[in-house]
Formats: sequence, structure tokens, C-alpha cells
Amino acid sequence: MPAEPVEPPAVAAAADAAEAAALAAADVAADAAGPPPSDAQDAPVVETRGLAKSFGENEILRGIDFAVRPGEVVSVIGASGSGKSTFLRCVNLLEWPSAGEVLYHGRNVLERGYDVAGYRTKLGMVFQQFNLFNNLNVLDNCVIGQVRAAGRPKAEARERALGYLAKVGMERHVDAKPRQLSGGQKQRVAIARALSMEPEALLFDEPTSALDPEMVGEVLSVMGELAESGLTMVVVTHEMAFARDVSDRVAFMDGGVIAESGPAAEIFAHPAQARTQEFLARFHAG
Ligand SMILES: Nc1ncnc2c1ncn2[C@@H]1O[C@H](COP(=O)(O)OP(=O)(O)O)[C@@H](O)[C@H]1O
Ligand SMILES: [Mg+2]
Repeated sequence: MPAEPVEPPAVAAAADAAEAAALAAADVAADAAGPPPSDAQDAPVVETRGLAKSFGENEILRGIDFAVRPGEVVSVIGASGSGKSTFLRCVNLLEWPSAGEVLYHGRNVLERGYDVAGYRTKLGMVFQQFNLFNNLNVLDNCVIGQVRAAGRPKAEARERALGYLAKVGMERHVDAKPRQLSGGQKQRVAIARALSMEPEALLFDEPTSALDPEMVGEVLSVMGELAESGLTMVVVTHEMAFARDVSDRVAFMDGGVIAESGPAAEIFAHPAQARTQEFLARFHAG
């Protein structure tokens, strides 16, 4: 990641003041204009424009335009190596994009001076390999981030964690260490941990790919409930039934671009592009 250029304090302060003035002016304008137009609630939570990422000479993402709106579930499908994980990691800035924009409620988070740390807390992430702290019990796994990153009082953090652990059916395991849990249970804890931060959207990177087949269902069922409850979700998955039946939209990635996207039912029933047809044919055959 390139080092952030350091601004002289005076310049930074002037920029802050200018920004505050602009925001205040925008507030006044918004008040004067009355309630926002009805499509404002449909404005994307997160959007990418021309998002690109290279590692050295390798151009992995080659201009991705993507958006997820409040309450929407978007599945990202595509062959291994097509750039799906890199895309998610660029969206939440685990990787710094090489070019393009990542907009959060319309503001480009890559701009100098943007509160990147604050932005990261708005997006939760669930990984294939759970990424739990093995030395902490289930409850503490769901508390530590809330206290350290969000600055919540411990009692409040525990209460929230217990609520979300109940939601994923793990309330009876709060004292267990991760090694005492099955893969499916670990992933449900990881989901509860992400929810405990109360993010605005959750990103899932192949959350069931590391699980034994008999445990895939319990995790997908939790994810289905979350989708039903109106959570905004971006899900990289090879579970085509989930992509088809639970998502609102599907984006098919191929060679670092979104080759095709649209309503889930449409993509599965009538894929327009040959490469989408080919990918889905493999799924139907398998
Ligand atoms: N940190 C990295 N350094 C170099 N190459 C990487 C890095 N991360 C991913 N890649 C490369 O980017 C390509 C896409 O990877 P990835 O985003 O993991 O695809 P997918 O999740 O669709 O399988 C792969 O060729 C991979 O080797
Ligand atoms: Mg991946």
C-alpha cells in the first residue's frame, strides 16, 4: 500500500474547515428542499466505479462497476482465480485499489483525508477460514472488536454479542473455545462476531467453502435469515442454489471484470453471455 502523504497541519485544518462549511451548506440545502426524493433510499450503500487492482505486473481487477443498495443481497459468482476475493478485499480496503473509486454513500473513500478506519467499521467481513481468535472463547471473540475498534463499554458489548450469538443459534456455546466447535459452529460465531459490530453491510467470502458438506446447510440457513431480515449483503459463493434463490442480484466475474450481472432469476434462467452460460452449465452438470 502506498504511504499516505502527510499534510502540513495548517493545510489539513483548512481542508477540514472547508469541508465542514460545505457539509453545513449541503444540510441547509437539503432542509430547504424538503424530504429527499423517493429514490434516495435506493442509493447504493457501497459502489465501485472502474475499480482496478494490480499485484506487480498482474492486473487482477480490470475496471469493476458494482453497487449494493440498502437491504439488497448480491451474490458474486465466478471461477476460482477470477478476482472475487480481491474485489471484496478492495471494497473494504483490506487491499488498496490501484485505480477507480470506492463510494460509500456517494463519497469516494479513497480520497485523501477520508476516515478510512471509520469506513472499515461500517462493513463486516466473514471469511472462508473463520479467522476467530483461538485463545478466546466464543463470547470474547464477539466482544473484543466491539471494545477495541468501536470503543463500546464491555457490558454493552457482551449484551449485544449474546443477542447475536442467540440469533445464530450459538447461545449455548458462549464459553467454548473455537477448537471445541465444528466448522459450521465456528462460521456461525464468525457471523455473530461480524453482526456484533452492527455494520451497515456484511461481505462474505465463500463462507461455506471450508465446511464439511453436512455443515453447509446450517450456515446457509443463518445467511438466509439475515437476508430475510433486510441485512445488506455481498456474498462471494459457489453455492449456486443460494445465489439463485436468496440473492436479489447476481454478478458473474470472469478475468477481473463483471462479465454479466442482473436479477438472480434472470441470470440463472437466461444468461446472456457465452461465458456465463458455460460457467452455469458446469454447475448444472455438477
Ligand atoms: N496479495 C496478492 N499478491 C499477488 N497476487 C495475488 C494476491 N492476491 C490475489 N492474487 C492473485 O489474484 C488472482 C485472483 O485471486 P482471487 O481474488 O483470490 O480470486 P478468487 O477469489 O476469484 O479465486 C489470482 O491469480 C491470485 O494469485
Ligand atoms: Mg477467493
